[in-house]
Order: sequence, then structure tokens, then C-alpha cells
Amino acid sequence: MSFHENSDSDGKFPLNLTIIDGFTLPKGCEEMKEQYDNLEFSEEDVWICSFPRSGSTWTQEMVWMIVNDFDFKGAETPIHERCLFLEKTTLQIYNSSRINPIENIQNRKDLKNPLVFKTHLPFTLLPKQISSGEKKPKIIYVARDVKDTCVSYYHYGKFVWDYRTDFNEYCDAFLRGKAPYSPYWNHVLSYWQLRHNPNVLFLRYEEMKSDLGGVIRRVSQFLQKNLTDEQIKILTHHLDFESMKKNPAVNYEAFYESLRKLRPEGRFIRKGIVGDHKTIMSLDMQKKFDDWIESSIQDTDYSV
Ligand code: A3P
Repeated sequence: MSFHENSDSDGKFPLNLTIIDGFTLPKGCEEMKEQYDNLEFSEEDVWICSFPRSGSTWTQEMVWMIVNDFDFKGAETPIHERCLFLEKTTLQIYNSSRINPIENIQNRKDLKNPLVFKTHLPFTLLPKQISSGEKKPKIIYVARDVKDTCVSYYHYGKFVWDYRTDFNEYCDAFLRGKAPYSPYWNHVLSYWQLRHNPNVLFLRYEEMKSDLGGVIRRVSQFLQKNLTDEQIKILTHHLDFESMKKNPAVNYEAFYESLRKLRPEGRFIRKGIVGDHKTIMSLDMQKKFDDWIESSIQDTDYSV
């Protein structure tokens, strides 16, 4: 698909996008909104929420393993079949998945309890029972340095959506809120302001990098699971970058394999480092981001 053949207003993204409540979302969300809004789920379920490319898959694997008592055999099933991606039907990457989250939830007798959901929706667009506060399932949000997120999303877009833009142009579009699920700060802050609620846990990608064992401990306490030191060690190994990179169940391998016939370079789990933006983002662009970050969070207590 050419970079300019798209329905986005200024032709920056080869995707069908729509605006709902001020957020730029995959077009399919429009049709699905009523279903999301009225979704029936259990308060025991766990929701992993994130802006794309912030470490969602990493968090999903951690949570799924903890919730499912280290079921390594079950974990060989692709992650998108184990954790229900709410907006699944809106993205081609999930076409190969046999599982329709909405149907599955309605028919949850086939599923293990509790369910682990994944969504990139901001808090305000989660199912009505959650956003209104009527039900309080466990919510784990993961945030990442926005410059690294932007770099990761750019590489993803180039590989999966065949962006034909250069990186600088992409950054400008990102800053203008053109990337799916933007505006970025409205997204992150919609969860940040809830972080003291007992059913909400706010994680940082950088903390997972620097102290994965500590994060596993925190997540397991949040999920009311007692892990032994040995289990934490096993899970830390299972989740480290090299293990995750080699694990086909978390790499969307079938989909990536088919795309590699068109574009040979590309992996879902790519580099996994903190500060990757320094290798590609000009100092001028870093300054633009820093100014944008400062003005976006100045009236909040968000720390970067
Ligand atoms: P990079 O593109 O910077 O490598 P998401 O799952 O939200 O789409 O996030 C994808 C990003 O998380 C990618 O970042 C990917 O490499 C990184 N990631 C996935 N598993 C990881 C791990 N075990 N350790 C570090 N980073 C990981």
C-alpha cells in the first residue's frame, strides 16, 4: 500500500482511521464501539492497557503466566489467542487469529478464568461499565518513554503498513496526534490519574528493563498471587529480551513471516532497549519532543 493512498486527512498514514471522542483510532473501532461499550466481563478479569509499542506484549506475557500459574504448555499458543485484544477485528495483524474476542467473551465457558484482555483504547473509551466506575476489573497500564515509543511505532509502521515516509516527517505527524490511538498524552494521563485506585497498576517499560524481577513481584502482589523466589527467577528468564525474541508465541510469527516476503527486514520484538531514539532522532527533533512533553505535562504530576 502506498503511503499516500490513505483516508487520513493529511495523507500521513496508510490506514483507515477515524476520530472518536478526540482520539485517532482504527476505523473499525467505529463499528465496534457499541459492542465494546456494552461488553459483559467479569470483575476478576485483568485488562492490560497501553499506547501501542510501549511494552504491551511483554506485559501480556508476564500477566498471562502469573494468572495461569506458569502454564508453559498453554503459553505455546500465540499470545493474541491467549489474551483477548479488544480491537482485534480492526487490524489485519489479527486476521489469522481464530479467536474473536467479543464472541469469546460472550461464550466464556470455553475460556479459562480470569481472562486477560489487551487494549490500546484510552480509559475513557473502555467498556462503559469500566469507564463509568460501575465495575472495577484489574487494570495494568504500561507506559514508555514517548521518544522510544515513537521510534518503535515508526519501525512497526514501515514494516506492517509500508510507511513511505522518512523518520522526521513521521515524528512531526506523531507530534500532531496522527498516529493511531493519539493524542498520546490524553491516553497516558487518562490512566495516570487513576493510578492510586486499588484496581489500577501503572507500570513503566524502563522499570521492566532495569528491574524485571521487582516488577514481576509487584504485578503478582497486585494480582494476589504469591510467587516464590524461584518462580520469579524462572519468569524473569522467560521474559527477558533474548527469550522473548526467540519465542514464536509472542512474535506474531505467522503474520510477520508473510510480510517478510514483501519486506525482508522486520520483527515484532525488535531491539528492546531504553534510549533507542538517540540512534535515529536528530537533536532538533529531540528538542521538539522535549518541549512538547514539557508543555503537555506541566499541569500534571506525571514524571518522565
Ligand atoms: P522496540 O521496537 O523498541 O524494540 P508492544 O508490545 O506494545 O507493541 O511493544 C513492542 C516493543 O516492546 C518493541 O520495542 C519490543 O521489542 C519491546 N519488547 C517486547 N518484549 C520485550 C522484552 N522482553 N524486553 C524488552 N523489550 C521488549
